[in-house]
Amino acid sequence: MAARATRLGDTGESAPEHWDAPLGSSDVHVALSVFAPDRAALDSVLAPARQALDALDGVSVIYRLDACQLPTKRTHLGFVDGIGEPDIEGAGVAGILQRTRTGEYGYLPPFGPTIKAGEFLLGCTNQLGQLTEPMPQPGVLARNGTYVAFRKLHLRVGAFRRYLKDNASSAEEEELLAAKMVGRWPSGAPLVLAPEHDDAAIATDPQRANDFNYRQEDPTGLRCPLGSHIRRMNPRDALEDGIVDVRIHRALRRGAPYGPMLPEGQLEDDGVDRGIVFIFMGTDLVRQFEFIKSQWADDGDFAGLGTEKDPLVGNNDGTGTFTIPKRPVRRRLHQLPRFAVTKGGEYLFMPGIRALNWLGDLEDRPDTSRTQHAVK
Ligand code: HEM
Repeated sequence: MAARATRLGDTGESAPEHWDAPLGSSDVHVALSVFAPDRAALDSVLAPARQALDALDGVSVIYRLDACQLPTKRTHLGFVDGIGEPDIEGAGVAGILQRTRTGEYGYLPPFGPTIKAGEFLLGCTNQLGQLTEPMPQPGVLARNGTYVAFRKLHLRVGAFRRYLKDNASSAEEEELLAAKMVGRWPSGAPLVLAPEHDDAAIATDPQRANDFNYRQEDPTGLRCPLGSHIRRMNPRDALEDGIVDVRIHRALRRGAPYGPMLPEGQLEDDGVDRGIVFIFMGTDLVRQFEFIKSQWADDGDFAGLGTEKDPLVGNNDGTGTFTIPKRPVRRRLHQLPRFAVTKGGEYLFMPGIRALNWLGDLEDRPDTSRTQHAVK
C-alpha cells in the first residue's frame, strides 16, 4: 500500500514516512486478525497462538493493534458505523451478521442490487462475467480467497468537534452539520429518510436503516448532500444515467475503533492515538478500494463538485469546502481540515478456509507444488 500512497491520497502528514513502524515496510509478511466478543475470549485464543508462534523459527510478532467497540457502540466521531454492505449473490444468508446496539447478534439485510460473488471471492464469476485476475497460484490457494486493504486511520476528534462548533450556533446545528457530512445521523438513521431530526426508530429497524436510494428521493442532495461521506462511498442509483457502474466499485468493509475516547465535550486533541482500523475486502482492489478512495473520496468531479473532497475521509488540507444544498441558498463550509490521518496500511491476500488447511497440512500437497510454493 505504501507504494500506492500518492494514488490513495496518503500525502503530507498521511505519507508513508510518517506511518507507524513497521507498517508500509518490507518487514510485514503476514497479518492475523483475531475477533472475539470480549477480552477473556481473546486472550484464550491468543495464548496458544503465541506459544505456537514462539516455536516457529524465523517468525516473530512485530506489530500489534488492539481495537474494540467503544462504550458508546459508536465510532470516535459519535456515529454508528457498519450499516451499508453489498448484497452478494448466493451468499445464502439473510444479510450481514451484526452486533446490535443492545449487544445481541442479528442480521441486517443488505440493500441495493445483488452483486456477483466474484467481486468478493476469487474463483467465482465477477460483475464483468469473468474470473478476476490475477489469482495466487496454485488454484487451491486462490479459490474462495480475496484481497484485503488494511488501513489504520488516526482520527482528530477534537478538531472535528471544534470545526462543528465554529460553524454552528447551537448544539442542534452542530449535530446537523455532522450528519450532513456523514449522510446519516449519529444513531445511523439516513438523512434521506430522516432529513430533519435523528430518528432512532428508523436506525434500529433493520428493514429501514438501509432501505433508500438517491435518484428519485433526493436528486439534488437537499436531504443528503451530494458530497457527504456515504453518498460518495456508495452513490447507489444516483449515477445510473452516467457511464459508471456502481456495482463494480463496491467492497466489503469491517472497521473497529482503537484508542481511548476523547472525553465528552473536549474540543482540543490531546495527543493520544485514537481512530479506526479498517479492512476492505474485494477481488480487485484497484477498481474497488482504490477507485472509491481516489475518485469518490478525494475528488468531486463525479458528483459535479469540482475539487471538493469527502469531508470526513478526504485528504483535505485546510483549504477545502463542503457544499450543503439548501433552499433558498446553499450553505458552503470552508477551510476543511484533515480529520483522518493515515498511520499505516497494507495490501494483503486472505486465503479461504480450504487454502488455510492446504497451507497447514503439508502432507496433502502434491510434491511439485510443495517445492515450488514453499520457496516463493
Ligand atoms: C476516518 C475514517 C472513517 C469513518 C469515521 C467512517 C465512518 C462511516 C460512517 C459513520 C458510515 C455510515 C454507516 C454505514 O452506512 O455503514 C460510513 C459508511 C461507509 N463508509 Fe466510511 N468511514 C471512514 C472511512 C472510510 C473509507 C476510507 C472508506 C472507503 C474508501 C469508507 C467507505 C464507506 C462505505 C462504502 C460506507 C457505506 C455507504 C453506503 O453503503 O451507503 N469509509 N462510514
